[in-house]
Amino acid sequence: MSQKTILHMLTPHKHVSPFDVNMAADAGFDVIVPYDAVTLGEVSDLVQDAIFSRPPKWGASTGIFIGGNDAVLALDMVDAARKALVPPFGVHIFADPSGSFTTGAAMVALVERQLRATGRTLQDTPIAIFGATGVVAYCAAVIAALEGARVTLVGHDGPERVGRRSAEMQARFDVSVEAADGATPAGTARVLADTQVVLSAARAGLRVLTREALATAPSLLVAADVNAVPPSGIEGVDAGADGVPIDGMKAVGVGALAIGNVKYRTQAGLFRRMLSSDTPLVLDFRDAFAFARGLVA
Ligand SMILES: NC(=O)c1ccc[n+]([C@@H]2O[C@H](COP(=O)([O-])OP(=O)(O)OC[C@H]3O[C@@H](n4cnc5c(N)ncnc54)[C@H](OP(=O)(O)O)[C@@H]3O)[C@@H](O)[C@H]2O)c1
Repeated sequence: MSQKTILHMLTPHKHVSPFDVNMAADAGFDVIVPYDAVTLGEVSDLVQDAIFSRPPKWGASTGIFIGGNDAVLALDMVDAARKALVPPFGVHIFADPSGSFTTGAAMVALVERQLRATGRTLQDTPIAIFGATGVVAYCAAVIAALEGARVTLVGHDGPERVGRRSAEMQARFDVSVEAADGATPAGTARVLADTQVVLSAARAGLRVLTREALATAPSLLVAADVNAVPPSGIEGVDAGADGVPIDGMKAVGVGALAIGNVKYRTQAGLFRRMLSSDTPLVLDFRDAFAFARGLVA
């Protein structure tokens, strides 16, 4: 009899995301168990409870999924889970809080594809990120910075909060990320003056960049928006756009549905990778980006 595949889904919230439960079930896990209101301090005990109940060779049939909506907490939980492993006892560990790791990965992969069409890469490309204190923005910023892009987090209420965010990224990933204030049209225009890529990852249904604002970005090549709830986060970028020219500009747009399509296939693909691997894997947004990149190449 072959052992069942089991996924333990941890969230610091009141509920595990039904989206993630469906994705895991559709990928093929036999047993899916949600754990809510999980604290960072509880992760280690839960992981060790999972690993010691099965022989080590069944470790690759057991998974820990980490949800929530806080990138920093999710990464801390991944670290805690990894440290709790006792070789040869192991389990898969996969974090995707609010779907953000796979969403940020899909967004940057699709932007990179548009840059490549103009003979460029992410290396040294100036990228401004709006909605920059959110979890999707966090992943997109770190992924792009690790690829050598010149990333700026744009705050909507002053530079302090995005400044703390960039300091955290630098400390954790040794990447250089700038912070700027986009609370006023003049502040946004200063950021956009030399920007070649804008990423909008602000809250759903919020327009953060109008046509007038985009007109202050003369070097813009790509504008990507993850918000699927009208109005679009960036005026002139339709949800289904995937390299569609923005009216009156040389830049192209990448919209939320195009990003969502790659995000969905990336999350499904990483779940399937867990199910097919003979050895336990640890997966975060860097793995999601590698997978998404492969999908869009
Ligand atoms: N297309 C897809 O596949 C997909 C998948 C997942 C998520 N999403 C979308 O991705 C977006 C980001 O989601 P999330 O979970 O990372 O974060 P979120 O909680 O929805 O918020 C994102 C950011 O929006 C900011 N914000 C709020 N008011 C603002 C304003 N007036 N101007 C500029 N920014 C403002 C928030 O700032 P504060 O810190 O001040 O609140 C936060 O930084 C959402 O639109 C979500 O629906 C899309």
